[in-house]
Amino acid sequence: MEAIILVGGLGTRLRPLTHTIPKPLLPLANIPMVERMIRNLPEVFDTAILAINYGLDEMKAYFKEINIEKKVIIVPEEKPLGTGGAMRNCIDYVTGTTAVFNGDVVTSVNLKIMLEQHNKTKAKGTLALWEVYDPRRFGVVELKNGKILQFQEKPEKGTELSNLINAGTYLLEPEILEMIPPNQKISIERDIYPKVAGNGLYGFPFKGYFIDSGTPESYLEANFKCIEKDGTATHKGASIRGPSLIHKNAELQDCIIGPNAIIGSDVKMEKCVVRKSVILSHVNSYGSVIEDCIAGPNISIERDMKRTLISPEGEITF
Ligand code: GTP
Repeated sequence: MEAIILVGGLGTRLRPLTHTIPKPLLPLANIPMVERMIRNLPEVFDTAILAINYGLDEMKAYFKEINIEKKVIIVPEEKPLGTGGAMRNCIDYVTGTTAVFNGDVVTSVNLKIMLEQHNKTKAKGTLALWEVYDPRRFGVVELKNGKILQFQEKPEKGTELSNLINAGTYLLEPEILEMIPPNQKISIERDIYPKVAGNGLYGFPFKGYFIDSGTPESYLEANFKCIEKDGTATHKGASIRGPSLIHKNAELQDCIIGPNAIIGSDVKMEKCVVRKSVILSHVNSYGSVIEDCIAGPNISIERDMKRTLISPEGEITF
């Protein structure tokens, strides 16, 4: 079975970092998001299809270098085709029921159980659904007896059809992909799903966690989720204060690390404090206190920092 991963977005909300590294190649706990997603696919998915526009060269170079058990097919778009257009562009590589993922979501969806439901209901499409307290910023679905009957974009308070939103994980039959006009910019959420609602579209509400890691805050949150269970680092040059991950070749001396600190490869730090932050590769620092930050790659930090995203292309506070 194939899984399409949408990895072609510009990642504007994580600029300037995404000028240096395309969002799908940004690490989550030291493993690029897209690689993590492929490795987490259930065994029944033997092929990952990467639908890409922005960052094509970097993606090709990355997958040339690594060993991964699944077949990886990179399908380029000449211009960004949107979520629906990008899926349609992959149709020649699809052989049956297909999973589709937004490449930047980190979720606890159990894909095996979702697939069982999809097959049992003989759905044309099944969408993972996440419950939110306030759905006003999102696309909402009306769900009845497991069936999606309607979509509603950014509902006003009091008019919400439900609190369930699209979680960016789908199981689709080829006929849905065939409905998408080729070579056009199409949003699957806005242009296609509303047409199939009430006619073979099902929902799969799930509990646990759902993080769209597209903003600085949510990128940090997604990283911390990945180290929540087993991220207790040890390092002779650091005192560890809670869940943390330190790359094995990082050189630390007299540092205080954690809680929630991720230190990437080839980082060199002395007398630093790092909390609730992601330090990407090849960062050097002496004597800094770094809190709620995303920093790197390939930079030197000479001062204390809080709620800052700093990269070779510049910095923002958030
Ligand atoms: P922002 O610019 O920060 O909004 O990020 P983004 O460009 O990634 O957009 P968004 O988070 O809305 O995209 C959701 C998912 O769809 C991400 O995994 C994107 O990589 C992907 N995506 C969005 N537009 C396209 C597109 O035109 N082509 C492809 N292949 N993927 C896309």
